[in-house]
Amino acid sequence: MAADKPKFYITTPIYYTNGLPHIGHTYSTIVCDTIRRYKRMRGYDVVMTTGTDEHGVNVERAAKQAGVSETEFVAKMAADWRALWDELGIQGDEFIRTTDLKHAHTVQWLFRLCRENGYVYKGHYTGQYCIYDNAFVNDAKPGDNCPDCGRPTETITEENYFFKLSAFQKPLLDFYQKNPGFIQPDTRRNEIISFVEGGLKDLSITRTTIRWGIPVPGEEPHVFYVWFDALTAYLSAVGGPQYEGRGYWPADVHLVGKDIIRFHTVYWPAFLMAATLPLPKQVWAHGWFLMAAAKMSKSKGNVVLPRPIVYVLGMDALRYYVLRDTVFGQDGNFSYDALVTRYNSDLANGLGNFASRTAAMIEKNFSGKIPKPGSLQPQDEALTKEIQAAIGEVLERFDKCGFSLALELIWSLIAAADKYLASEQPWALGTSDTDAQRRATILWTAAEALRVVTVLAHPVLPDSTARVWTLLGQPGHVGSQDLDGLRWGQLKPGTPLGKSQTLFPRIEKAEAIERMEAMENEPQKPATAPAPGTTPGVAAAVPQSAPEKIGIEDFAKVEMRVGEIKTAERIVGADKLLKLTVDIGTEIRQICAGIAPYYEPDKLIGRKVAVVTNLAPRKLRGVESNGMIIAASVGPEGRPVLAGFHEDVEIGARLK
Ligand code: MSP
Repeated sequence: MAADKPKFYITTPIYYTNGLPHIGHTYSTIVCDTIRRYKRMRGYDVVMTTGTDEHGVNVERAAKQAGVSETEFVAKMAADWRALWDELGIQGDEFIRTTDLKHAHTVQWLFRLCRENGYVYKGHYTGQYCIYDNAFVNDAKPGDNCPDCGRPTETITEENYFFKLSAFQKPLLDFYQKNPGFIQPDTRRNEIISFVEGGLKDLSITRTTIRWGIPVPGEEPHVFYVWFDALTAYLSAVGGPQYEGRGYWPADVHLVGKDIIRFHTVYWPAFLMAATLPLPKQVWAHGWFLMAAAKMSKSKGNVVLPRPIVYVLGMDALRYYVLRDTVFGQDGNFSYDALVTRYNSDLANGLGNFASRTAAMIEKNFSGKIPKPGSLQPQDEALTKEIQAAIGEVLERFDKCGFSLALELIWSLIAAADKYLASEQPWALGTSDTDAQRRATILWTAAEALRVVTVLAHPVLPDSTARVWTLLGQPGHVGSQDLDGLRWGQLKPGTPLGKSQTLFPRIEKAEAIERMEAMENEPQKPATAPAPGTTPGVAAAVPQSAPEKIGIEDFAKVEMRVGEIKTAERIVGADKLLKLTVDIGTEIRQICAGIAPYYEPDKLIGRKVAVVTNLAPRKLRGVESNGMIIAASVGPEGRPVLAGFHEDVEIGARLK
């Protein structure tokens, strides 16, 4: 019964509606969703809120540019964000929009409380304002650029309502001291403490120059300034003025990126203190995903989108990669190369291979029923002990948001179980009763190891662990398992295995990257649901067993010619790509090829290659590519080997 469970409330930031989600935003939401699933498995009644931050001058301008009203503009954007989260399976329990009526009421109520308690006054403010970041830039002079985004600031003077932030220096410092876990990680805590110790200036919380905002009742044309408006969304989502009725406030965790930690750990607690409302328990700041050493952002044009990854490798692969390859709290570099390497080594060869091998051997030797183990040998006991001992440690790591460390430990168990199978060799045992008994013990042990790691990995890999659960013939849903009750030895002999499952089909790295990059360049399409019961993208990753035959007329549509490489250079920020110019007889073409790790640019000059010349031009990492060089894809990594000619051929000759 949810009523008996302790409540747990977690939030993502509410996202600006001036663009669609990239990997940075997706990362925030994936982390929250992982904590949400983890806490549910620890017996909590969890609510996760996400949503959209829809007011401000940027939206006014964007709507004008799109030739629609602001209402129409934000409705479309919010629907797109929502649809994408739905498609990715990370939709949260509450979706709050700052244009929701219930949110407006909450903001107005919070303002009234702060004002009644004497923390709001009217004044004038002149300052340099960055309209992109929706913030005045402290200490900036006219003509200065915004230190965060580098854009020019604007001088603004207007009548504002001010919030007496200066009155909260001591209360905030006392609060941080009494609640040392409030700001995480500790490095951020130290930063914030020194910022507050440096003194706090009062904060303007309304605007008269902006139209598109929540009105201050009886004080029009004042509308609320973005942070007073946005932060309050966390409260609006769980009841607003009636928050006590729902029982989720105060929030347990606000998960944010490091760029917005100050707003969450200084402004927000101060607003709530002024209104005498309960304060959130913790703010966790994660780092950024960087692309070529810079923060991903739409304005820099270096964003990576989630959908192509999900379609080619599946959502679980993306979740696993972002949580495994970065230390939570620190910045991480996004790389397609590392993503596909992780996919192949940890998911396809790791979990996927272990699960299908174990199930296949049980199928073959025990008619698809979990065997009954016999007496244990020291090596069985060693594995048992290792796994049993790791369960508590994995939970501790999850508790500290040590996702990477938790996954490392879970995957060390998979490796240990794999090694156990390899050394016990159940397939090499004979048909005697003793051998059959031994085989049963080994395979029960392997299946039990699989069951335990499946439960532990579920918060990170919800989709594939559900499929392993079905494969193992386990009752209920893996997400409803009680992590606190998880013990070695709970796998029941005699349980029939479920339907066989496709887990993580191996994919050639070069092909996967090519496909993801090609999709990145396509205009973003509305969400199309992948086939039910499949991981999006995985179906496409499975090699087609019987490729459809094409007629000669179809083949003739592809124009291929002999080309000669004239220049070759690397592309900054795209480790895989070389930018080539290629003489195809009638013209010199610029072509990008994903061969940089395998070919030295200098050695390519003068080389004759086969070129597809009638492909529509496309952009790879922002660089135009007009054609394609043909290469064989060799070995499991898909190493490209350029197709060439053993005799001298004329540049521009057609390949038929
Ligand atoms: N609307 C505000 C938040 C208001 S919360 C009351 C906002 N929106 S945002 O869309 O710009 O950013 C939302 C979150 O995405 C932030 O936590 C930000 O740190 C995160 N990310 C945006 N780009 C990112 C990366 N490249 N990497 C990781 N996260 C980053 O700020």
